[in-house]
Amino acid sequence: RKAVPPPEALLGWYDRHRRRLPWRAEAGKREAPYRVFLSEIMLQQTTVVTVRPYYAAFLKRWPDVEALAAAPLEEVLSAWAGLGYYARARNLHACAKAVVARHGGRFPADEAALLDLPGIGPYTAAAIASIAFDRRAAPVDGNWERVVARLFAVDEPLPKARAKLRALALTLLPDEGYGDFAQAMMDLGATICTPRKPACALCPWRPDCAGYATGAPEVYPLKAAK
Ligand code: ADE
Repeated sequence: RKAVPPPEALLGWYDRHRRRLPWRAEAGKREAPYRVFLSEIMLQQTTVVTVRPYYAAFLKRWPDVEALAAAPLEEVLSAWAGLGYYARARNLHACAKAVVARHGGRFPADEAALLDLPGIGPYTAAAIASIAFDRRAAPVDGNWERVVARLFAVDEPLPKARAKLRALALTLLPDEGYGDFAQAMMDLGATICTPRKPACALCPWRPDCAGYATGAPEVYPLKAAK
């Protein structure tokens, strides 16, 4: 087993198996920051299947950040109805206004500048920086945590392991292709390295996976006893 699973293996797998999603640019292209922003906020506590029609409706009604910023909050909230966690809709609107007021309607590319915007936390800042701008950033979500915990057979339980998982995640990053890598991690976690019964036979990182080598990868990430 190599010390660090090679990013090329995952990127090659992503080229072959990437999911076609409405907020995902075609191979070799970058998605507009506004579209990444909108989709990532919607996807935070909501499934891909539920998000699809809302994403399409929002884009149709408010095709760019200026349009969303100019919309009355009440209209944004009512268009959000059904997605739940309404704080996200308020934050979405506040963030759109801030992008227009502070940045002339252009999302900043820098992770730190993104983090400075209202409603944008570490995950969303890293997602926009990597996916929309191909900046070196790791949007570590539950998928990433599970993949990393298995790859390195991390024997510290969540939530304590979080800082360690993040540090290990950063060691996996490629030298280029950060946006593809981020989305490849999400796809691997959603389709192969699933919470129960992972499909290790199909995994590009199986030869590099310490969790697989233990014979019981599904036990990771360990969870603290309640
Ligand atoms: N979940 C959160 N962000 C995602 C993305 N960009 N693609 C697929 N699933 C996601």
